[in-house]
Amino acid sequence: MNNTFLQACRGEKTGYTPIWIMRQAGRYLPQYLEVRARGKGTFLDLCKDPARCAEVSLQPVELFDMDAAILFSDILIPMEAMGLKLEFHEGRGPVFPKPIQGDKDVQCLNIPDPEESMPFVMETIKLLRAELKVPLIGFSGAPFTLATYLIEGGSSKVFLQTKKMMFQAPQLYHALLEKIAGCTSLYLQAQAKAGAQALQIFDSWAGVLAPCDYARFALPYVQEIIHDLREVTDVPIIYFANNGSTLIEHTITAGADVLGLDWRINIKDAIARVGRHAVQGNLDPIALFLPEPELKKRIRQLLDDARTAKGHIFNLGHGIVPQTPPEQVKIAVDCVHEYSASL
Ligand code: CP3
Repeated sequence: MNNTFLQACRGEKTGYTPIWIMRQAGRYLPQYLEVRARGKGTFLDLCKDPARCAEVSLQPVELFDMDAAILFSDILIPMEAMGLKLEFHEGRGPVFPKPIQGDKDVQCLNIPDPEESMPFVMETIKLLRAELKVPLIGFSGAPFTLATYLIEGGSSKVFLQTKKMMFQAPQLYHALLEKIAGCTSLYLQAQAKAGAQALQIFDSWAGVLAPCDYARFALPYVQEIIHDLREVTDVPIIYFANNGSTLIEHTITAGADVLGLDWRINIKDAIARVGRHAVQGNLDPIALFLPEPELKKRIRQLLDDARTAKGHIFNLGHGIVPQTPPEQVKIAVDCVHEYSASL
């Protein structure tokens, strides 16, 4: 069993810097597309098929020698389990045809028992643990990020409906977030119980909030989830607030072991601000399109800059894009392993 990733999460000394990549199981891999096509069905059908989920989670680990696997699922799966209709439209992403607008909509949401309502997730975790020789990361969305999808009805650019609800109907907003946090808390606890060895909370849209609003409308719910998790499990927790360099003074109070960093901040500057936290990141996903010598130079610089961290897990600054050539991922992983071992 290779536990380098878990050691780095805990800030222990490691022989080299571990790497995994956000969205490492996905559309840039022809092997993923093949499995996706095989079962016919939709993306949601794939998420509910443990054998195929386990298969695609394993692909990047086997192809590139990643130091951790991430459960194959989606952050919106538990939102469907709360009672909302969810669809994935080709080219448009997730859609909630009946977005949350009023008190009644929030009252109708239930806080599901994860083992009963999402047995396929726990089953995937068990299948993966039987196969893997590296740690398995479970995950959820952060309540604010999840709420944006529920309120906007899908992806958004300016988050008008979400911010309007915050500012004009704060009680409704908080009631919604409280329910999402309750659901997420139980969901992550169930993943740890099923065998997930680390948990990442994705706050993909945190960076659209002013720091004062982040502190009031997003952070408390992340703190609540992490506080609840600490009561029942000691697995390392990674909190990734995308576009969050303006929020670091807040995000370090979330209670996570590891702070995920996007690429917009120099990792050295971030480390100076996060203090005793381990960090994860933060290569620009599009830097994987650099010519090989420049890509390697960039990776070596990042590893040099991260040497002062209490722990460093190499990752991209956000998810890998579907157009990325898989060969470039191989170059990056090998470069991280080789260069960091020489430091
Ligand atoms: O490899 C992994 O990282 C594990 C699987 C994973 C998926 N989604 C699979 C997926 C994870 C961790 C996620 C998280 C997720 N889902 C986030 C947070 C991370 C981030 O990128 O900020 C968000 C915001 C979502 C919601 C979501 N799911 C969107 C916006 C989309 C459509 C756009 C896109 O990037 O594809 C999805 C669909 C989705 N989730 C796919 C995959 C592999 C593509 C589905 C397909 O095969 O067509």
